[in-house]
Amino acid sequence: MKKKVTVAFFTLLTMTGNVFSQSSVDSLSAQILTPTAPLSPRINGAKVFGVRSGSPVFYTVAATGVRPMTFSASGLPDGLSLDAKTGIITGSISKKGTFPVVLKAKNAKGIAIRNFKIIVGETIALTPPMGWNSWNAYAGQVSADKVKRAADAMVNSGLINYGWSYVNIDDYWENNHTKTKDPKLQGDFRDAEGNIIPNGRFPDMKGLADYIHSKGLKAGLYSSPGVLTCGECAGSWQHEMQDAASFANWGFDFLKYDWCSYTKIASDSTQGVPMLSKDKTLDSIARVYPYDLMGKALRAQKRDIVFSLCQYGKADVWKWGAKVNGTYWRISGDLVDAWDKAELGTSTHKTVSDVGFNMEKCSPYSNPGHYNDPDMLVIGTVGWGKPRPTRLTPDEQYAHISLWCLLSAPLMLGCDLEKLDTFTLNLITNDEVIDIDQDPLAVSAIWVASHDSLEVFKKPLEDGSIAVGLFNRGINKAVITANWNDLGIAGKQTVRDVWRQKDLMVATNSYQAEVAPHGVVLLRLIPKK
Ligand code: GAL
Repeated sequence: MKKKVTVAFFTLLTMTGNVFSQSSVDSLSAQILTPTAPLSPRINGAKVFGVRSGSPVFYTVAATGVRPMTFSASGLPDGLSLDAKTGIITGSISKKGTFPVVLKAKNAKGIAIRNFKIIVGETIALTPPMGWNSWNAYAGQVSADKVKRAADAMVNSGLINYGWSYVNIDDYWENNHTKTKDPKLQGDFRDAEGNIIPNGRFPDMKGLADYIHSKGLKAGLYSSPGVLTCGECAGSWQHEMQDAASFANWGFDFLKYDWCSYTKIASDSTQGVPMLSKDKTLDSIARVYPYDLMGKALRAQKRDIVFSLCQYGKADVWKWGAKVNGTYWRISGDLVDAWDKAELGTSTHKTVSDVGFNMEKCSPYSNPGHYNDPDMLVIGTVGWGKPRPTRLTPDEQYAHISLWCLLSAPLMLGCDLEKLDTFTLNLITNDEVIDIDQDPLAVSAIWVASHDSLEVFKKPLEDGSIAVGLFNRGINKAVITANWNDLGIAGKQTVRDVWRQKDLMVATNSYQAEVAPHGVVLLRLIPKK
């Protein structure tokens, strides 16, 4: 299915002189592109939901439109109910199988109907998780208060109505004796029974998870297989099952598990675990081991917990992440808000370009429930504890979001949700762009052609159409041509500009667009009957 087409038939023209455009697509700029959502109801977000039998179901129907809104559903399997006011589906299902459901949302302006599928089986997160993580905004300054305010902001900004749902606490909810003198973080790592003790900024973990759930959102947490996390807080070493049980009892729905100091353990022959090695096969065994352990511990819990592997792509994690119960796996080091390497000097951090355009090797491993993770989105107010606006230009941000959606990447915002500006909010509330990410096939973009700094990616979608990203990584405007031959399609296609949500034309063999430097034109090609 994943076919790489050579560039032989592909026409790409780099612009150097006067503007030359055969399309009606203007280059993207600082402008707001996403049209305002209608006042009438529109159901957004995932079209399919996976749950294990017996696990608690918690799913908020995402819908834009004026409130009050009334929700209903037909075809809900036994054991589930829908709250007509909030649109939250809860309960649990004992029978395995696929349950087609019709969701309805009604307000004073009209009614929306959408087909939805609940699949009860072994796989959860059947579309890439969407949400927020505390690290890029707060790093070591995170607190329960800030997390609650992030949850409030996810609702008040309307993000929840587009399917944004996870509110995830990264490092620094645990105690820490080395990296900070904050008295609130100086407590014991564990109690007499070995249970992990949250730090003083997180006085009530269950209360916090309940609060997040009360908003219709899901709650996430972070740990490490080492003695210490990357920030030198308490890790889960030798307490894996016990920690998984604590996380589940508190009511968390997500765990990011970060390799960090585990190198020490896997390099010490007295620890009784597979050792890191120069031999590739042995090394891989050592790297899989701690994730397999936690994967099994999470699976043993009576709730569904998304498992996010963070070990920077070592030992080709994309080849085994799913086997250890992973939902998604980071494929490289930490992403920062830079377009390419040249902007970073000697830093070893990763950029949007060097991660996003180098995912071909792991693309074949993306499927419903399993995703490659190029890391959190670096838009909005980031700064890792020292707030500042992203350094990415608007065009780079459009390219970043488009690429992550084409890659079926998890969409985790890393910005301060209380400081969402109009541009950023517009960027992350385009239902048609999000639909590309959330497409139930979960295919990760297939590289179709490249020439100099111009790239074309395609992503087959469930309805038989394809999403196409025309990317210009260069510093001059460029005209990029999408040829049907290269894209593996034929005949008349309606060409839709996805960001502007506008049909542009019906084309037969190719489509050509001018693309801004470091920018994108994101298209959907819909076969015309
Ligand atoms: C890094 C990880 C970051 C963040 C940080 C916390 O290893 O890649 O995303 O979680 O640790 O200390």
